[in-house]
Amino acid sequence: MPTVYLETYGCQMNVADSELILGKLAAAGYSHTENPEGADVILVNTCAVRENAEQRVLGRLGDLKGHMHRDTVLGVTGCMAQRLGPRLLDSNSRVSLVVGPDAYRALPELIEAARKGERTVATDFDLEEHYDDFQARRFEGVKAWIPVQRGCDYRCTYCIVPYTRGAERSRGLDDVVRETREVVAQGLAEVILLGQTVNSWNDGTRDFGALLRAVGAVEGIRRVRFTSPHPNDFTDSVIAAMAEVPTVCEHVHLPVQSGSNAMLKRMLRRYTREGYFDCVARLRAAIAGVSITTDIIVGFPGETDAEFDDTLSLVREVGFDDAFTFKFSPREGTPATRMPAELTVPSDVVDARYTELLALVRSIARGRNMARLGERREVLVEKAARRGGELLQARSRDFRTVMVPSDAASIGDYLMVELTGTTGSTFTGTPVAERAHLPTAGQAAN
Ligand code: SAH
Ligand code: SF4
Ligand code: F3S
Repeated sequence: MPTVYLETYGCQMNVADSELILGKLAAAGYSHTENPEGADVILVNTCAVRENAEQRVLGRLGDLKGHMHRDTVLGVTGCMAQRLGPRLLDSNSRVSLVVGPDAYRALPELIEAARKGERTVATDFDLEEHYDDFQARRFEGVKAWIPVQRGCDYRCTYCIVPYTRGAERSRGLDDVVRETREVVAQGLAEVILLGQTVNSWNDGTRDFGALLRAVGAVEGIRRVRFTSPHPNDFTDSVIAAMAEVPTVCEHVHLPVQSGSNAMLKRMLRRYTREGYFDCVARLRAAIAGVSITTDIIVGFPGETDAEFDDTLSLVREVGFDDAFTFKFSPREGTPATRMPAELTVPSDVVDARYTELLALVRSIARGRNMARLGERREVLVEKAARRGGELLQARSRDFRTVMVPSDAASIGDYLMVELTGTTGSTFTGTPVAERAHLPTAGQAAN
């Protein structure tokens, strides 16, 4: 059997795509290997969202050459493949395959051709493609990524995703429910529904609220999460479904990007600071104990001190449970790159703002976490903690990371723990006798 080795970069959508790719290749007779050395096929599933994501991949392609034998096929898939297309073949003589996110169906044939010496680029978009008939090869032992939407119809001016993933399309509700049932049959009880603006999911007659209700009601499902929603798509119907379906977890990752109205406008985020506050208020009013995390960009063109201060004050006012912070990275072909050069924020200013924002985000998260000490949570034991020892890493419904003393046999178990310590970002938990239970509708897990 020929072997395939695959590395994944970027967001959870790419992780899910890698599972689809490996499923497809398994069906075509490839066996998966965790070691690049001597593999017949090496695939790198890439991200293009920021320059440093791409630099990492280019460096890695160089390293991987050292593991290749003469006939190894080296392929690049994902968002960088879509963005750079033939340019990747020109700049990397050992790359023989460049395959974008909508072209994975053809991978077995493309790899065959590459093994015969052809070099191909497959980057056509296919607005019908959801890979519904693929059997994902899942690597997360206790939860399952389920793509429900591909592409993006927003056009945030900094973002490359609409160019690398094409137009938004929603996968059929029946297919999502069928996959959820299959996941349960495989022994998993947590699903994460994926889409770039996942709560805009719509099949023509039903909205994301209906999808949450359908997935959340699948027998044997215990936790439903989704990422990433867009603030504008949190209709009352979606929020009501979140509040009423007991399996939907009390966590929303709600990217804000900036706290300044002028900036939000330049970013074409299509909401205001006030609109964002309103969305947060509606979520908090409907869902007791909901935790809210976000993404923020610093140094977008034209960002003034006052605009950055607006971001800091928004962060304080919302009180995020956590946030990912990014330095703006210009992406070729996006509208942000056509803004006047004098709007570029000097890198020392970006660095200083980034440091200040990160410190604020961390101190707020720490305060919110400290306030939870002594509370109880149901956690799902996910994996061995990176630090090793006797600790396992578990996750609460409200997306807190909790280290629990246990052994590997408890991976996949749901436990009740008391939050006994916190580093400020993660917790330690002590198992308590109380049986883990599902909250009843309208009543959160705390
Ligand atoms: N679809 C998701 C975000 C996908 S990209 C959403 O709209 O919420 C993940 C995050 O990367 C974004 O939320 C943004 O904060 C960041 N990001 C995207 N493009 C970027 C760029 N050009 N420079 C810096 N950060 C960027
Ligand atoms: Fe990018 Fe905006 Fe679409 Fe998110 S909503 S993927 S940030 S264009
Ligand atoms: Fe990156 Fe593509 Fe995801 S650009 S963030 S892998 S959609």
